[in-house]
Amino acid sequence: MGVHFGWWDRDGNSLRSNPGKSLRSALVILSCRALGGSSHQALPAALAVEMAHNASLLHDDIIDNDRLRRGRASLWSAMGVPAAILAGDALFFGSVHALTGAPHADRTVPVLLSAVQTLIEGEYLDTLMEKDATATLDDALDMIAGKTAALLSCACSLGAILSGADDERVEPLGRFGLLLGLAFQCTDDVLGIWGDPESTGKPAMSDLRSRKLSVPIALAINESSQPGERLRALYRRKESPTEAECRTLAHELESHGVREAVVELARENAQEALAALNSCDPDPVTVEELAKLTKMILERSS
Ligand code: FPP
Ligand code: MG
Repeated sequence: MGVHFGWWDRDGNSLRSNPGKSLRSALVILSCRALGGSSHQALPAALAVEMAHNASLLHDDIIDNDRLRRGRASLWSAMGVPAAILAGDALFFGSVHALTGAPHADRTVPVLLSAVQTLIEGEYLDTLMEKDATATLDDALDMIAGKTAALLSCACSLGAILSGADDERVEPLGRFGLLLGLAFQCTDDVLGIWGDPESTGKPAMSDLRSRKLSVPIALAINESSQPGERLRALYRRKESPTEAECRTLAHELESHGVREAVVELARENAQEALAALNSCDPDPVTVEELAKLTKMILERSS
């Protein structure tokens, strides 16, 4: 686990490498504060959500056959698949454990378990839709709601529960997290095609190379445009796309406005997310912090 988090190398030497953005734990803490709780009260859920998230990344890199995460070797490629599966399992059970001994466990544990179930379903949809030339934008949005937005929603709900708020005030924060999660994954999908590997820490054009059904692809693949036709042919054929084909496609998709359309979709979801917040009478200073975080999510390059 320490190797995955960048705390040490595989020989046990200390490192101070990128441990990730900790976005989900920040959301737990801010959601708790938004409803009058303290950062301290939120810590068990901040830990639980960060552990569950990292568990899912460890397994996702095996499923996606990705050798690079956060600019260094993914755990399975550094230490083997068994180590990465087991580190993921341990982190997942650790995340449940972090909640069981904390206040409101009767409410928080079911929320975490249900989110992870949804995550698993979303990830499975992702694998089913790889190289699928018939999937629609709605299919892609269902998939990202599961594989990504469910855990951001869970983060916000758990923070709200640990503030001691009742379900009526928790619900808008869960909705905020869900919509923010959709915005987050739209931005991620833009970076998956047009991101700079130096900043993302992931291989260039990784989603195109593995023929994933990301949001930009779903937008374009059913169109009768030039990139639409090219995409359909590429997703149906047996051989993987070459580097040059990926570059041409990325360029064509951008000139046909696909990148801008996904950026706009991210903006719309982020706006709706912030609107959802207001119905729970949140602390205005924390709402400003959440708005700053939302802006960072839209503008991020990593
Ligand atoms: C990343 O998507 C996918 C996820 C973060 C969700 C993965 C979910 C699971 C493996 C199931 C849950 C499992 C456990 C143990 C909790 P991506 O591949 O589009 O993003 P990437 O570019 O960062 O890899
Ligand atoms: Mg992946």
